[in-house]
Amino acid sequence: MSNKMKTNNSEPQPLPENLSSQIIDVYHVYGLKLQNKVVALKGVSFDIKKGEILGIVGPSGSGKSTLLLSLGGMLKPTAGKIIYSDGTDISKLPEEEMHNFRRNNIGYVFQEHNLINHLSAEKNIEMPMKLNSVPQTKRKEKSNELMKRLDISHRKNHTPNRLSGGEIQRVAIARALANEPQLILADEPTGNLDAENSSQILELFKDLSNDMGTSYLVCSHDPIVAEYSGRSLEINDGIIIGEHGLGVNLMDLDSSRLLVMDNQNRITLPENVVEEVEGAFLYTWKVKDKGIFLEPLGIDTTIDKQKIKYCPNCNCKIPPKTYSCPRCGAKLTRIVH
Ligand SMILES: Nc1ncnc2c1ncn2[C@@H]1O[C@H](COP(=O)(O)OP(=O)(O)OP(=O)(O)O)[C@@H](O)[C@H]1O
Ligand SMILES: [Mg+2]
Repeated sequence: MSNKMKTNNSEPQPLPENLSSQIIDVYHVYGLKLQNKVVALKGVSFDIKKGEILGIVGPSGSGKSTLLLSLGGMLKPTAGKIIYSDGTDISKLPEEEMHNFRRNNIGYVFQEHNLINHLSAEKNIEMPMKLNSVPQTKRKEKSNELMKRLDISHRKNHTPNRLSGGEIQRVAIARALANEPQLILADEPTGNLDAENSSQILELFKDLSNDMGTSYLVCSHDPIVAEYSGRSLEINDGIIIGEHGLGVNLMDLDSSRLLVMDNQNRITLPENVVEEVEGAFLYTWKVKDKGIFLEPLGIDTTIDKQKIKYCPNCNCKIPPKTYSCPRCGAKLTRIVH
């Protein structure tokens, strides 16, 4: 009886119809030795809906790539769950099963495209299908269909060194789509492209997500990417601090930010708000009309501004009264004793 119950409990429960994946309280710590430890993700939770283009925005070093690598199973989270639509929690999968799961469910598009240099565009696109033992005729059929869709058929016999930046990225996208994954993870997919090619790539993501129901998680500094994302999550120092709607302006995140309360009931105050109250770190609070009202306590509770002289992330000198690094955007410690 107890065995039976155990089996039932450990069986994966599929996610609701409208969800592609669910990320629950994920932590990632780099480095084994105490002095080398970097806590890159500090309890990140969010859902990815089926067919959506979800942006991840945030300063350099905030944890975007770590998040993408964790979702793709290339990094094992130190804690937390990453659940895909069939209920599989990939944070628990052994290496071998992870490879299989990844090949069938997840596609990648990175700034560094990682195409195989001595293979033609066509053969590069076929590679994931080959690894999945798809018969040759089916592989050809699928790669032809994708090349047509991505407007690269005329380049099918070219190796990557004979393709333009935009063409290379289209081949990388076709390759990512070859096994019809449910989620495409894209890390700075437009990083090497000019504005026109970037728009074309994003337009493609939009069409493909509409037609095939594929979800896209795209992290980028590129304003064009943010414009195309139906929703963007803002990450800072390993925590999701805000959410923005369609057409977010990366230069002015303060004006469109909805604050996020995570599943540990944390809400991070935006830098501009902290600056306005001069870095106060003690507040009185009350709940009124279903709102939460905070009032900073007096001057004695402000941070010791003198002691934060250099950014702990990039070592840049920090001007006084500054709560995020002007070079890399890292959030600076507010309480110094
Ligand atoms: N292999 C690693 N070992 C140790 N620390 C790492 C490693 N990779 C990343 N980090 C650290 O983890 C934090 C998050 O890095 P990550 O690469 O996820 O940031 P990012 O938001 O993708 O930055 P960028 O916009 O510059 O690509 C940073 O402080 C970084 O220095
Ligand atoms: Mg990165």
